[in-house]
Amino acid sequence: MKPFAVKPLSGLQGEVFLPGDKSIAHRAVMCGALSFGKTRIDNFPANQDCLATVAAFKKLGIRIIKTGNSVTVFGKGLHGLRMPRGPVFLGESGTTCRLILGVLAGQDFQTVLTAGRSLKQRPMLRVTKPLRLMGAVIKARHKDREEYLPVAIQGGDLRGITYRMPVASAQVKSAILLAGLYSSGTTSVTEPLLTRDHTERMLRLFKAGIKSEQNTISVTGQRQLAAPGPINVPGDISSAAFFLVAATVVSGSRVLIKNVTLNPTRSGVINVLKRMGADIKLRRKKGFAFEPSGDILVKSSGLKGTVVKSKEIPGLIDELPVLMVAACFANGRTVFDGVGELRVKETDRVRSMAQNLKKMGADIKVAGGRGSERIIVSPNAGLRGAKVRSFGDHRTAMSMIVAGLAASKGSVIDDVDCINKSFPDFLKSLEALKAPRG
Ligand code: S3P
Repeated sequence: MKPFAVKPLSGLQGEVFLPGDKSIAHRAVMCGALSFGKTRIDNFPANQDCLATVAAFKKLGIRIIKTGNSVTVFGKGLHGLRMPRGPVFLGESGTTCRLILGVLAGQDFQTVLTAGRSLKQRPMLRVTKPLRLMGAVIKARHKDREEYLPVAIQGGDLRGITYRMPVASAQVKSAILLAGLYSSGTTSVTEPLLTRDHTERMLRLFKAGIKSEQNTISVTGQRQLAAPGPINVPGDISSAAFFLVAATVVSGSRVLIKNVTLNPTRSGVINVLKRMGADIKLRRKKGFAFEPSGDILVKSSGLKGTVVKSKEIPGLIDELPVLMVAACFANGRTVFDGVGELRVKETDRVRSMAQNLKKMGADIKVAGGRGSERIIVSPNAGLRGAKVRSFGDHRTAMSMIVAGLAASKGSVIDDVDCINKSFPDFLKSLEALKAPRG
């Protein structure tokens, strides 16, 4: 456990270069492994989660080498994976787990998946249920009508399904689409709300037969993928979010964040902050790219409250913790509607963030029942320093560091080792922008 002391700042100044987007990088490794040919992935984020995906595919017989900031995957086609010797350990990476279940549903061998303490407590029925409908045989640990890791999955002989997802989850959608690559006929999945479309974009880049019409995505099965050549992963907007909020709420700041994903299914955080009055300017990169990207310039500014609607939540689900911090500095009330999914992340982030921010003096209420849960942040003269907890969750830890930067006195976060899950260089990048209060 590494505690971290945060001192309030008088301004953040300079440029930030972010490691590649975690969601995109997972998918690039997976599609690379399942295609024929070599895929070099540049600006690959060497965080624990993405390395868990690399390790899992190595264990399934795929050669992957890392040189500097790049990773090269030597794909062997849809049927090139080999039965692993022993269980495949997924660390704490929920994305690796849900997506690889989709891939393993297509393999005619059995694989046992296991994971670290927090991932073993995250719900899997949302993925195992549709994969069983497609023909996979899955045994999972059961508790209170939910399923958890460890999971044993035996795949092969899948049939395409038409599936309406009960939860808006890009991980579930992706697992079904990846299994759909192996299925007879077409697999169609309809999501209740639009979620990040990185799998669809990546599959298109690898020449899969994929079609999107509003909330329904269809993939044609049993067609090989083709390696597209080098893939450059734009910087992670979820990591950028901490700097967007920090530079907004710490007065006297001006930060240029270079080369960030500006995929519209991910940039909800920018829309909401702008609506709240943040001074954010985008410089979009021109020309075709499988994922849109660009630079973001952010300067400190006052904020006003807003209502974030349920349908916006999937586009900013991972940025909600840091948006809750922003809301504590707003003039007026901010409401986040339909936040139930936040309870099943690395930790229950509704609880972790509300508890921490209350300790710092925030006025936060959680209202509504399952399915319509909302968070209400009312103005209460900013935040004061406090001793807070990360609950072993990377995004809670980074959000609380941002809160501490703009608080009236110093704070301590009990454990920041967990930041390595997504952004090992976060503290270094932050340090480079700092000018301590004189
Ligand atoms: C992700 C989807 C989201 C998100 C997670 C990454 C992805 O999860 O919270 O950090 O890469 O598909 P859900 O699909 O469970 O909402």
